[in-house]
Amino acid sequence: MDDIRRKTVKAVLSEGAALAGTKVDVKGWVRTRRGNKNVQFVALNDGSTINNLQIVFDLSKFSDSELKPITTGSSIHVQGELVASQGAGQSVEVQAEELEVYGTAPGDYPLQKKGHTLEFLREKAHLRPRTNTFGAILRIRHALAFAIHKFFNDKGFYYFHTPLITASDCEGAGAQFQVTTLPLADLPKDEEGRVDYSQDFFGKLASLTVSGQLEGELGATALGLIYTFGPTFRAENSNTPRHLSEFWMIEPEMAFYEIADNMDLAEEFIKYCISYALEHCADDIRFLNDHFDKELIDRLKFVIDNDFVRLPYTEGVKILEESGKKFEFPVYWGVDLASEHERFLVEEHFKKPVILTDYPKEIKAFYMKLNDDGKTVRAMDVLFPKIGEIIGGSQREENLEKLQKRVDELGLTGMDWYMDTRRYGTVPHSGFGLGFERLVLFVTGMQNIRDVIPFPRYPNNCEF
Ligand code: 4AD
Ligand code: MG
Repeated sequence: MDDIRRKTVKAVLSEGAALAGTKVDVKGWVRTRRGNKNVQFVALNDGSTINNLQIVFDLSKFSDSELKPITTGSSIHVQGELVASQGAGQSVEVQAEELEVYGTAPGDYPLQKKGHTLEFLREKAHLRPRTNTFGAILRIRHALAFAIHKFFNDKGFYYFHTPLITASDCEGAGAQFQVTTLPLADLPKDEEGRVDYSQDFFGKLASLTVSGQLEGELGATALGLIYTFGPTFRAENSNTPRHLSEFWMIEPEMAFYEIADNMDLAEEFIKYCISYALEHCADDIRFLNDHFDKELIDRLKFVIDNDFVRLPYTEGVKILEESGKKFEFPVYWGVDLASEHERFLVEEHFKKPVILTDYPKEIKAFYMKLNDDGKTVRAMDVLFPKIGEIIGGSQREENLEKLQKRVDELGLTGMDWYMDTRRYGTVPHSGFGLGFERLVLFVTGMQNIRDVIPFPRYPNNCEF
């Protein structure tokens, strides 16, 4: 092989015309090989783009036995001249001059043909990143993560790292995974027969975090504007297409923001992320649009171009009650809305994203600011077509007495450090949490959240 610098498939295709007539060096995995006695065509992909580079092997230069190992899934290194392509579907192709085979992929390679079902690919989750579909999803996922950091950095927010192992329970939902080094078959007990956590690794009960918010509030009441972006763990037994046991959450927290500022930020943020993906992942989104969801691009543009509806919970419930629609779960004031209710408001009634506010305090977390009516709190859930809840947030209760009352009512303990934010220099503040995979789900148009994270965790599944 000549000493030429390797180029990615993406670089070769985008530089195309400028490189024509020069010798290029490319490496990648073979997607397909076809052809006849005189010439063989290989579609080469290296993950840099959804598009393949066509490599042409002239059989007067390469023998059958040299080409034999080049089957779907094998990995190769090729040098050759880049030329304008005669065939349809690509503007340039490589006339192979030299070939090195890195690794063969025998006939039992599971990803032989195109068009495997998503269910089949979930069984082969360790290999599915090599498919067109998952390549597209994972590149979009990357772009969205990058857009999120860019959005907040450009606005002067600080990336604040909250702990994954925690001794507090933010959402009070009680669905936490415990972290312990105690011998499970022989647990040390105290005099009352309860597990003696003082002998555990941290000297107390510890869990994986369900949210970085409470610690995020410590950051916001010092740095002003912060966001977190990290893994989050929930042990609820939710076998749905929208729940994972391990997912990523973005949680901005802003000092001096009230609920309206919070809604403005959430709407701007989510529109920014979608615009970023449309601009930077055009090929991948087009592929998903054409293969899975013909309305995807229209839906993404629609969300960017339209104001979200802002509606108090009480009015939302009224609309649901008066809709005459038969829901599986009953609707009444005070109920925690089910996904079917949220989707009715968004998809059938308003046909737009909806930010629902001012929920009954009983169905929301202890930290939300109580309204003057004494019944509702300044919560805001952003509800999206196809997804339901994509963001949950609120203005926080900054009044020490009111917050203490709520903490006592709910019997929460070990919150002294949190109460110090209200005890010393308390300020109005707000924040929200975006479920990263729900955003990726929306932007890719996929149906199942298990298909938008490389290694999904859900009840009875912890592969790799
Ligand atoms: O509504 P949640 O529970 O809110 C919080 O955790 C707050 N502490 C956020 C805050 O105000 N800083 O979760 C926020 C979002 C949801 O709207 C949803 O998008 C996502 O996290 N989410 C999940 N995503 C995937 N799988 C699950 N099991 C999820 N649970 C919540
Ligand atoms: Mg929520």
